[in-house]
Amino acid sequence: MQSPPSTARPDGERPGFHVAILMDGNGRWATARGLPRPAGHQAGADALRHIVEAAPDLGIRTLTVYALSSDNWHRPKREVMGILRMLRTRLRAQAADCLQRNVRISVIGRRDRLPRHVLAAIEDAERLTRDCDGWHFRIAVDYSARHAIAQAALRAAHQGGLHEASPTGEDPAALALFAAGMRSDLGPDVDLVIRTGGEQRLSDFLLWECSYAELYFTPTLWPDFDGAALADAVAEFRRRDRRFGRVPALVGAR
Ligand code: FPP
Repeated sequence: MQSPPSTARPDGERPGFHVAILMDGNGRWATARGLPRPAGHQAGADALRHIVEAAPDLGIRTLTVYALSSDNWHRPKREVMGILRMLRTRLRAQAADCLQRNVRISVIGRRDRLPRHVLAAIEDAERLTRDCDGWHFRIAVDYSARHAIAQAALRAAHQGGLHEASPTGEDPAALALFAAGMRSDLGPDVDLVIRTGGEQRLSDFLLWECSYAELYFTPTLWPDFDGAALADAVAEFRRRDRRFGRVPALVGAR
C-alpha cells in the first residue's frame, strides 16, 4: 500500500520545501521561432519572473535556479557574456521586486571569475534583500557542485574535522565533525529537482544537496514553463512516496 503523501523529512525539518530548477531549452525555444539564442534567454528570464511569483503559494520556501554553470564557460564567449549582461540587468529588477515581496536573494557559485559589473549587481541584490524572511530565492552563477563539494571538504578538513589519528576517517566523531563542516558550507537539502527541455541529468547541479531529491523531468522548454507547469510538478512531487532509505511506516520517526 502507498504511504500517505508527505514532504516531511526524517529530521522533521521545516514545513516548506526546497525546489531546484535546471532551466533548459532557451536556445531551442528561440531557434524554433527563427530567433537568435539570446532572445531565448530573455524569454527564459521572463519565465523565471513568473515562477518566482508562483513559488510561495505552492509551499516552496527555497528555490534554487541554475542560471550559469561553470561548464557554460565553454560556450561561445559572446553567448556567455550576453547571459551575464542579462543577469546583471534582470538581477537589479528582480531585487527590487523581491524586496517588495519579502524574498531574500542569494547567489551561489564562484565569484572570482565574474565580471565586476555582475559582481556588483549580485552584492547589491543580496544586500538589499538580506533581511527579507518570506522565502529564499537562490541563483547559481558560475556554479559547479563538484567544485562546491571540494571547497567544503577542504574547509572542513582545515577546521580540524579530520586529524592524523584517523587518516581513513573511521573515527565517528571526526567524521561527524567533518560532515557538519561540509553541511555548513553547502546549501539546504533539495526536495524536488525540476529539469525542463527534455534532458534527464543533473549536470553538476547541487549534487550533495540532491541526495534524496525527487526528480521531475519535462519536455517543456524553459520559456514555456509557467506557474501552472510548476503547480503540476509540485502536485507530482506530493504524490511521491519519500522513504529516505527507510521502510514506509517509519518515515518521520526518529
Ligand atoms: C539553458 O538553456 C539556459 C541557460 C544557460 C541560461 C539560463 C538563464 C536564465 C533563464 C536567466 C536567469 C535570470 C536570472 C535573473 C537569474 P540552453 O541555452 O542550454 O538551451 P538549449 O538546450 O535549448 O540550447
